[in-house]
Amino acid sequence: MIKAFASNFILSDSKNRLRIYTFFAAVFLGAGVYFIASEFITKEIFRWEVFYSARNVKSSTCKNQCRPPGSESLPEGIISKTSNFEFQPLWGSSLQNKKPKASKNLLAVAVGIKQRHVVSRIIEKFPPDDFDVILFHYDGVVDEWREFSWYSRALHVSALNQTKWWFAKRFLHPDIVAEYNYIFLWDEDLGVEYFDPKRYVSILKEEGLEISQPALDPVKSKVHQPLTARKTGSKVHRRFYNFKGAGRCYANSTGPPCTGWVEMMAPVFSRAGWRCTWYMIQNDLIHAWGLDRQLGYCAQGDRTKKVGVVDAEYIVHLGLPTLGASHDNALSSNALSKKDSSNLDGSEPQVDNRVKVRMQSSLEMQIFKDRWADATKTDRCWIDPYP
Ligand SMILES: *[C@@H]1O[C@H](CO)[C@@H](O)[C@H](O)[C@H]1NC(C)=O
Ligand SMILES: *[C@@H]1O[C@H](CO)[C@@H](O)[C@H](O)[C@H]1NC(C)=O
Repeated sequence: MIKAFASNFILSDSKNRLRIYTFFAAVFLGAGVYFIASEFITKEIFRWEVFYSARNVKSSTCKNQCRPPGSESLPEGIISKTSNFEFQPLWGSSLQNKKPKASKNLLAVAVGIKQRHVVSRIIEKFPPDDFDVILFHYDGVVDEWREFSWYSRALHVSALNQTKWWFAKRFLHPDIVAEYNYIFLWDEDLGVEYFDPKRYVSILKEEGLEISQPALDPVKSKVHQPLTARKTGSKVHRRFYNFKGAGRCYANSTGPPCTGWVEMMAPVFSRAGWRCTWYMIQNDLIHAWGLDRQLGYCAQGDRTKKVGVVDAEYIVHLGLPTLGASHDNALSSNALSKKDSSNLDGSEPQVDNRVKVRMQSSLEMQIFKDRWADATKTDRCWIDPYP
């Protein structure tokens, strides 16, 4: 367009020559402005390039510090990644010179009011300085527990007819319980006469157990799995032997039922062991049958070494009727006909419900097995450490 404009000038009257010069002067001037401007723009672009590349360098050096998803827009120092169940006073706490919290453990129990005396004996065994307590009330009864002196120390969560695993998946997210060294995820029908939680924890540390359970007193308990029965005089055992009949277990056995797992009635998880196990718990498979045999995958190493049964501190499995008795793999007719003498509301023992629960549990176990098999086939990057 400038060209056309210029040729118009040239073709026009010679008197206008002056105007042509003026025009060219303007063009040169314009060109000058252009050069200066372009130089400026180039510099500016260069400056931004430097800025962006510096930022890229920074972000690539920062890539390794993995931020929790969603927190990327915040400066790292303000991010509070984890939490706990410690109660805070409404006022008067010295937030500024707060000492780092002594490492604690967590006791989580699914409870119904019928077993309150058994539960109370469990909680009284777990000293407040070392253990926070969360109770999952599956019968909706909470206030009636106030008679116990420890009531206000415990955190109470209530949801009708839900199982321990349902609660655990929803209320024990690994980020929420990350500050606890060990998590005791227990049923309510356990006798703790011979059990000291602090000694138990110190044994776990000495033995490097990531997933464990206290042994069951074989005389006073309902023992379903020979692996979990207490060995007198032993501190810890990690396998059991069976040289005859079905389900043989030798020293060279590498997995369940001989070694590398614990039952679901009184498991104790390390922080890392729990994080992994939480992911494995399925939202909808609330009885969690079949999960126990896979716990070795969460053992943070060799399951024959990091999963074990502690004999020195042991418990009694009372086998009382609880919600669905979800761990009760081998429910005996004796247990089914057992009258619940401490039945508060005077209702019939839930015989039929327990049978239904058991059928549902078996169904869930099959679904879990199928999901596991599918998942191992679909994930091409996953390598089975226990083929
Ligand atoms: C909980 O279970 C009891 C006993 O099986 C039953 O009577 C009650 O209706 C259930 N409640 C809910 C909310 O499912
Ligand atoms: C394991 O040990 C038993 C008895 O010692 C033996 O019969 C069996 O073949 C062994 N199995 C393997 C896989 O080595």
